[in-house]
Amino acid sequence: MKPLTKLTKEEAAQYINNAETVAVSGFTAAGAPKAVPGAIAARAAAEHAAGRPFKINLISGASTGPSLDGALARAKALGFRTPYQSDPDLRKSINAGETQFFDMHLSRLPQDVRYGFLGPIHTAIIEASEVTKYGEIVLTSSVGASPTFARLAKHVIIELNRYHPPILRGSHDIYEPDDPPQRSDVPVFKPSDRIGSPVIQVDPTKIVGVVETHLPDETGAFADVSPVTAKIGDHVAEFLAAEIKRGLIPKTFLPVQSGVGDTANAVLMAMAEHPEIPNFQMYTEVIQDAVISLMRKERVTFASGCSLTVPPATLEAIYADWEFFRPRLLLRPQEITNNPEIVRRIGTISVNTAIEVDLSGNVNSTHVLGKHMMNGIGGSADFARAAFLSMFICPSTAKGGKISTIVPMVSHLDSSEHSVCVIVTEQGVADLRGKSPTARAKLIIENCAHPDYQPILRDYISRGGNGHSLQSLGAAFGMHLSYGESGDMRNVKWAV
Ligand code: COA
Repeated sequence: MKPLTKLTKEEAAQYINNAETVAVSGFTAAGAPKAVPGAIAARAAAEHAAGRPFKINLISGASTGPSLDGALARAKALGFRTPYQSDPDLRKSINAGETQFFDMHLSRLPQDVRYGFLGPIHTAIIEASEVTKYGEIVLTSSVGASPTFARLAKHVIIELNRYHPPILRGSHDIYEPDDPPQRSDVPVFKPSDRIGSPVIQVDPTKIVGVVETHLPDETGAFADVSPVTAKIGDHVAEFLAAEIKRGLIPKTFLPVQSGVGDTANAVLMAMAEHPEIPNFQMYTEVIQDAVISLMRKERVTFASGCSLTVPPATLEAIYADWEFFRPRLLLRPQEITNNPEIVRRIGTISVNTAIEVDLSGNVNSTHVLGKHMMNGIGGSADFARAAFLSMFICPSTAKGGKISTIVPMVSHLDSSEHSVCVIVTEQGVADLRGKSPTARAKLIIENCAHPDYQPILRDYISRGGNGHSLQSLGAAFGMHLSYGESGDMRNVKWAV
């Protein structure tokens, strides 16, 4: 077997051509390539300067870092992007209509690639901590959809990132289900079950070259817990403790899935501080900072996820203390971490963040004022639809109180009222289980809306009569329109 070819990042970028589909490793900035994308961006800039088109279609596990999505968006090199993003420059490009963005459930991505729904993959760029001439690839701080990308791509470029130590071998559980009609059950019955291989195996003749790097993940720290996020966290913790007392959640508790962002981080901290919530395991998508500090306190006893999205200093501390963390962490592909079959079977308590929630309990996780894409649906609905208990959290207002996150009707729908059990804001908790639309609307207004908006929302439902639902179609977007016209939802004048 021939040794693998070493390439510079510029040489690697020459394998990427205009209008091709490139798939990259990583899930969030964790494990995403960081050297070759910048060289592709430089190549795009040179091609544009020479008057030639150069835009690629980019598929990743989820979001990536600034040297990938950011660099390519700034170079106007992204024609198409899926399935998720969180980079400010790419967001601008999407909202300006320059990049076509396909927002999709993250659990579906690998299978949709296998089904051919997203077309062929020309090149996969995979960050590895180890690669052998036999085509064995050991990933770094995430798995995402890399097993599928590497297997199906015509060419594979490896970014061998020496920042990650060889001890990582064994911390990934690589598994791809068969496709229908051959698919069988995915045999994960508890968060720590291992069902696959520690390495990705590809045909080594597809590996066109290896680019060596030594670069930390471009992951940032979370904002400190604020009075608002702390209150949300306390409400969630109190609610879950009460559910244990009522006997609705087992005393041993259930695996927890927690969403992305500052609010989700604050909730985990509050849950861990509550004396009546026992130590728990996580069956989640992104393993965030809070999980690591709670593991050190032995409050979180195990975490299965598809990325270790922590700041470089935290990751270095994990590697330094690997004997402690190795038996407590497992990284899997996103179609396994977010697999609705497994989520339903093991019964997760899922806590995800909303941008807005309506009076029926519908959730918008993605679009500001119905038009402007924030990040994407991510894995929120993979979990929400299948969870044992699906909770959505958010502050009751945004933009200094000028926006109510509780609105008559969501301006975009991601998780429907049929997937949402409980809403929590800093004002309180609305338990929607078993409630009619009329009862839901009243609960959400009285328990979750900000006091500035309660009279407005009470006024709104008073216009809906006494039917099954209290919605008024002519007024449903009145608060959004009022923000557009006057910059403040409190100025709403109902149209009916
Ligand atoms: N209208 C307008 N803007 C709003 C808003 C609303 N209803 N609600 C929030 N925002 C703005 C905030 O003001 C803030 O803006 P800024 O960045 O200019 O300050 C921004 O949205 C983020 O809000 P924040 O409260 O800081 O949220 P967060 O960090 O907790 O993230 C989501 C919230 C919804 C954006 C994020 O959780 C997400 O992308 N979720 C979808 C994917 C997902 O849930 N993945 C996990 C599944 S496993």
